[in-house]
Amino acid sequence: MAKDRIYIFDTTLRDGEQVPGCQLNTIEKIEVARALEELGVDVIEAGFPISSPGDFNSVVEISKAVTEPIICALTRAVKKDIEVAAESLKFAKRPRIHTGIGTSFHHIYNKLNSNPEEIIERGVEAVKYAKSFVEDVEFYAEDAGRSENKYLARVVEAMIDAGATVVNIPDTTGYNLPEEYGKKIKYLKDHVSNIDKAIISTHCHNDLGMATANTMSGIINGARQVEVTINGIGERAGNTSLEEIAMILKSRKHLNLQSNINARKIYRTSRLVSTLMRMPVQPNKAIVGRNAFAHSSGIHQDGVLKKRENYEIINPKTVGINESSILLSARSGRAALKHRLAKLGYSFSKPALDTIYEEFLKLADSKKEIVDEDLKVLAGASARDIKRNLYLHHLQVICGKGTTPVATVKLEWNGKFHSATADGNGPVDAAINAVKDILKRKVRIEEFLIQAITRGSDDLGKVHMQLEHKGVVYYGFSASTDIITASVEAFIDAMNQIV
Ligand code: KIV
Ligand code: ZN
Repeated sequence: MAKDRIYIFDTTLRDGEQVPGCQLNTIEKIEVARALEELGVDVIEAGFPISSPGDFNSVVEISKAVTEPIICALTRAVKKDIEVAAESLKFAKRPRIHTGIGTSFHHIYNKLNSNPEEIIERGVEAVKYAKSFVEDVEFYAEDAGRSENKYLARVVEAMIDAGATVVNIPDTTGYNLPEEYGKKIKYLKDHVSNIDKAIISTHCHNDLGMATANTMSGIINGARQVEVTINGIGERAGNTSLEEIAMILKSRKHLNLQSNINARKIYRTSRLVSTLMRMPVQPNKAIVGRNAFAHSSGIHQDGVLKKRENYEIINPKTVGINESSILLSARSGRAALKHRLAKLGYSFSKPALDTIYEEFLKLADSKKEIVDEDLKVLAGASARDIKRNLYLHHLQVICGKGTTPVATVKLEWNGKFHSATADGNGPVDAAINAVKDILKRKVRIEEFLIQAITRGSDDLGKVHMQLEHKGVVYYGFSASTDIITASVEAFIDAMNQIV
């Protein structure tokens, strides 16, 4: 039987971008929109054009830059909003106006100072007006989660009659239980006479941590579009996470549902949004959190090393993460230690491994996590033992507000000196670009971590870096009171193993 298609409506750039501190400029929004297009989303909600000239401009520029997905602009049920949205969408190949009004008791009486009949009239007028500009009009019944089902059905029927192609049923306050939200969608399917002329959309907020569950319940009961954001960002506790819905649809085959999401691009899109919006992803976040594929207890580590499926329902490669990680702590067993040592190139007989394990346990009792550097020391290969043929001889950086950072480096490589100068988007980037110009190796920085040991400005900065070269990951470390030097030295420490 052919799978039913679930349309993915991404609102990272609208509901997500409303979060204080997450604002992006137009260039950054275009970068996110392009990533969303590559990810395979069906609709990009690009902004709320009446809200500011910046938002208006972003919708215009995203409409020019992205051609595959539908580009959607949000409005209130207000003529001026709709006119401005239509204007902002003039370059969109497939434009959509998303208009709507509150339908719950709270919104009708306490926010809009209105009454149920007038709300329907205003909604119909807005849909018809939007329809005079674009063919594709989505209507949202704000706070539908707390709206009375019988009244909501009347609203939805009137909006479809007025020309709405999609009807959005937001649980604006994240109040519904999954069963309740699912029943609401089913009620609309059963009681709205023209429901087959429109797509029902979910839009769930996460105030009680049920956004994904509610969205799934909506889908199971007949919704065919879901409104989601990358990393679940959004107003207050956020929106439903795109990555969670995409992976539920992909993993639970019996549902017979599919989306157009290219799962392999999930992780990199998550990182892009997190970096640009300066919004860290919580470590235990499903699918994209740092710990989503990390195993720390001895029993789990042993199980996952025997067969990944013992403790993982998703292969991390499916979402673009290279591999699961085995974290070493006092709870780890010999299997995990042996595995991590093997990754660093060490292999030991059983008695030798037993001895290292004893030392490892002592160290793990005094440190939260054992990193590769610790393992090298335990294995008798401290940094001094690694054969080096590459050194940073000299580093000069010019940077500061209003300047383009420029760095000059001099390296000693196999006994010969080489110099280069390069610029970059920051002093570290400039210096690393200069090193790359000399070494001419294709590497990708996978992890770059700067840690202060205490809190003073005179503190020593520790830099950990992971580089990927031809599918192998190399680790570099350095510490200095000058974090730019430490960063470049950590890069060189890892490059030393490559060249
Ligand atoms: O949460 C909500 O109700 C919304 C609407 C504007 C769609 O974001
Ligand atoms: Zn919302």
